[in-house]
Amino acid sequence: MKRLSLDEAVALLQSGEVVALPTETVYGLAARADRTESVQKIFHAKGRPAHNPLICHISSVEMLERYAVIRSEDRPLFSLWPGPLTLLLPKIGIPDVVTAGSALCAFRMPSHPLFLEAITKTGVPLAAPSANLSGKTSPVTAQMVEESLEGRIPGVVDGGPCSIGIESTVVLREGRSVRILRPGAITEKDFEALGFTVQQGQPDHKDPQGRGLLSPGRLPVHYAPAVPLIFVEECYTEDLLQRLHRFLQGENDLFQVLEERLPVSRMDCRQPALLQPEPDAAAFASKLYRSLDTLSRSASVILSFRLGDDGMGRAVNDRLRRAASLRLSPSDTGSGR
Ligand code: TXA
Ligand code: MG
Repeated sequence: MKRLSLDEAVALLQSGEVVALPTETVYGLAARADRTESVQKIFHAKGRPAHNPLICHISSVEMLERYAVIRSEDRPLFSLWPGPLTLLLPKIGIPDVVTAGSALCAFRMPSHPLFLEAITKTGVPLAAPSANLSGKTSPVTAQMVEESLEGRIPGVVDGGPCSIGIESTVVLREGRSVRILRPGAITEKDFEALGFTVQQGQPDHKDPQGRGLLSPGRLPVHYAPAVPLIFVEECYTEDLLQRLHRFLQGENDLFQVLEERLPVSRMDCRQPALLQPEPDAAAFASKLYRSLDTLSRSASVILSFRLGDDGMGRAVNDRLRRAASLRLSPSDTGSGR
């Protein structure tokens, strides 16, 4: 695939093609959101199921006002833009293919200057999911985009590594409360500082029309790396790590009960790699997808541990949980006795 200049990318976008562009979170696979045929090319290139809706990226509140119904209570949230925040709002004139039939559309104003410039120059909102094959980890470099989508899209604009490294926070505002549907770099504290109360997770009802889904990334396994990932649902300790290593080498009976649940045979466990945790969750997030990609090349199985839920820890844990082929709870690992 071609490395594109921004002007080449804009010309392709205007003519209804898809191109990969950097954002501050992950690389996006963009197409103009106002045309059904161009948006369909995104689903086709990614192999994405049509029931999984896309985020529309806008470059200004003025642009948003043309495509969404905005209430005064929404406006304080705009102070978190441009940035890694996605808001669900009733749509105006956005084709149903973007929202999988829902009357609500996800909108985000990214902060990456190249992506913002691409929207401004194209002149319409750009629909963009992460620029990877459906179900795989999101790309955070132009090279990762090439490895995932080679032969499927005309090109990528190289903006260097993404600074945040995991996908945006997706929220639904309900009165003075914000529901976090997908955790990200904008956290509970940011909404509380604006006077909102915060709820986590999926609502148990559908959108007001009862049509589409309100549940981003609903599949429990998502974002999967190339080799199995074992996610230990408790915080990292040296002792636990040593016991897991011994188990993977077949020397430890503690985990025998787990054997039939292992995503790989014990033979394949001979090359376990540890996704080395870091106290700073934001720094860990920025390297997460690249580390998984790198470890997948040499290891046969990857071990990871839950971080504390503070700050971006919650978002990192969410991605690790979804990426895992096996989740071990504290009782499985014999701790907490
Ligand atoms: O940081 C990001 O959000 C990146 C960059 C490219 O902006 N995009 C991204 O897109 O992660 P994607 O498609 O991989 O994830 C979008 C999430 C999905 O979980 C999807 O289900 C949810 O947002 N979503 C999009 N539109 C929705 C809608 N109308 N209703 C409910 N959920 C929606
Ligand atoms: Mg994605």
